[in-house]
Amino acid sequence: MLRTVILAASRSSQVERLLATVPFTRDVVRRFVAGAQTDDALRATRELVADGLAVTLDNLGEDTVTPEQATSIREEYLRLLSMLSAAGLTPAAEVSVKLSALGQAFDEQLAYDNARAICAAADAAGTTVTLDMEDHTTTDSTLDILAKLRKDHPSTGAVLQAYLRRTESDCRELAGAGSRVRLCKGAYSEPESVAYQSARDVDKSYVRCLNILMSGDGYPMLATHDPRLIAIGEDRARWYDRGPDGFEFQMLYGIRPDEQARLVGEGYTVRTYLPYGEDWYGYLMRRLAERPANLAFFARALASR
Ligand code: FDA
Repeated sequence: MLRTVILAASRSSQVERLLATVPFTRDVVRRFVAGAQTDDALRATRELVADGLAVTLDNLGEDTVTPEQATSIREEYLRLLSMLSAAGLTPAAEVSVKLSALGQAFDEQLAYDNARAICAAADAAGTTVTLDMEDHTTTDSTLDILAKLRKDHPSTGAVLQAYLRRTESDCRELAGAGSRVRLCKGAYSEPESVAYQSARDVDKSYVRCLNILMSGDGYPMLATHDPRLIAIGEDRARWYDRGPDGFEFQMLYGIRPDEQARLVGEGYTVRTYLPYGEDWYGYLMRRLAERPANLAFFARALASR
């Protein structure tokens, strides 16, 4: 019911205009999104890097429906990468890319071509690209595109979602040398046939996947704000003797900044996922709609300011 209401609101420009005037909405946007322009993203990146954090930038926009939209998102990434490099912010800053923003839903080849151009620009800028993971209907396509990209751009990273039943097996496939895998719980509403439904089962899967990645030869990126999972990550880092160059923690911009600072203080590599762009309304509303539990997640983050 809640999900239906949020999804309906996410398509309504009237609700968008109305919400934009509500102080709570403005607080949420400011807290979780760097700003609308590339310059805002650069400024926020500079501040985070000065605090000892690494950054991955996401140009907001997904579910692109025309090749022109996909091209414009690709061009923004190319511009962003050249600005990051010129500002001396690479390799501390890399980019995260949603293939749906690059045309995956209507032309897989176009999405691959666009992603390849972004990977080439990242290589030139001396940094990396990580492919975000969207709903389970896109997992095979995204992993296929990843495999093709990694032939020429081996540092291209993937996201795997612990709530999917298939993910343990995907972790085994991607735990080899040179592979970069961001492990998250998963943010979409998925059916029981493909995904664990209870928080406990998702957490148990996360730990199994974390063990596979941390004991493997790749570069694990543990994306979670969950204190228990972070503690397990710290424990496995000691057990497998992985230092700051051997793995990293990742968290979303605006969520548990104190914990991000604590981990930096402990000597860990911590990367903040930093969204920016004009499409903030869709981003926040879709996050909520994908998983209504995220409403509590955002509210908790605001309450902990
Ligand atoms: P969860 O939301 O279950 O929170 C666990 C616990 O963390 C809480 O019970 C609480 O103890 C603590 N906590 C959380 N917020 C807190 C706060 N503000 N203050 C204090 N404690 C707090 N998803 C996806 O499907 N595809 C993707 O590509 C990505 N990419 C991605 C990148 C990065 C860097 C991150 C961090 C996350 C993603 N995600 C994602 C989102 C991810 O799947 C997930 O929805 C959120 O990270 C929330 O899950 P947590 O692991 O934080 O646990």
